[in-house]
Amino acid sequence: MKIIAGNWKMNGTRTALSEMINALQNIDTQNTIILCVPYTLLNIDSGRIALGAQDTSTHDHGAYTGEVSAQMIAETGAKYVIVGHSERRQYHGETNNIVQQKAAAAMTAGLIPIICIGETMDEKQSGIAMQVIESGVRECVPPNTNKNIIIAYEPRWAIGAGITPTDDEIAAAHKLIADTLSNMGLTNIPILYGASVKATNAAQIMSIPNVDGVLVGGASLKPDDFIPIITNVK
Ligand code: PGA
Repeated sequence: MKIIAGNWKMNGTRTALSEMINALQNIDTQNTIILCVPYTLLNIDSGRIALGAQDTSTHDHGAYTGEVSAQMIAETGAKYVIVGHSERRQYHGETNNIVQQKAAAAMTAGLIPIICIGETMDEKQSGIAMQVIESGVRECVPPNTNKNIIIAYEPRWAIGAGITPTDDEIAAAHKLIADTLSNMGLTNIPILYGASVKATNAAQIMSIPNVDGVLVGGASLKPDDFIPIITNVK
């Protein structure tokens, strides 16, 4: 059983979400399906599909115009929140320290944070990808974490690029993440792979050891693209 999470980014309408939820209701799968959608699309009846947000404030409440707290997200019925996505790091200057605070805020509100870590192309070319991945885990996972977290390994250079690392590279990154978590006393934490996942590569990627599911961007927007990713893997 795998976890298949969609990240709609700043896309979608209520109609499109209803259509997706309807299309997913009766598919034959034991996999866990999560859709992380814009805040405005939360708070709808999603049946067997769990909903999530894509970011949270580090604060509970107060004078933070434009921000949305983890408690507010939880109140919509959402169960998950992505923290530390590459686009938040790139366009909003989020550091591992901020991501850790967001993950902690999510857990306090009873949400499961999907903590994204991964290297840029520069970091890959400089030969420091593995250090970036390991420090990402150490610095983004809050101290005293219970087991209700998910890690997403997203090589930042591969997001939306139509290319993926080799199977060996994915295997090495996921093993490093699993070993680092285990050294921190955390076992059985799901580790998802994300970046350019589509129907044609999803099953193969999910057959790699320590890959417990996928985080899917572009290919999660349309039922015809998303459903095969879910149903091709048991
Ligand atoms: P992509 O995005 O599947 O479109 O590469 C993945 C992500 O950003 O989570």
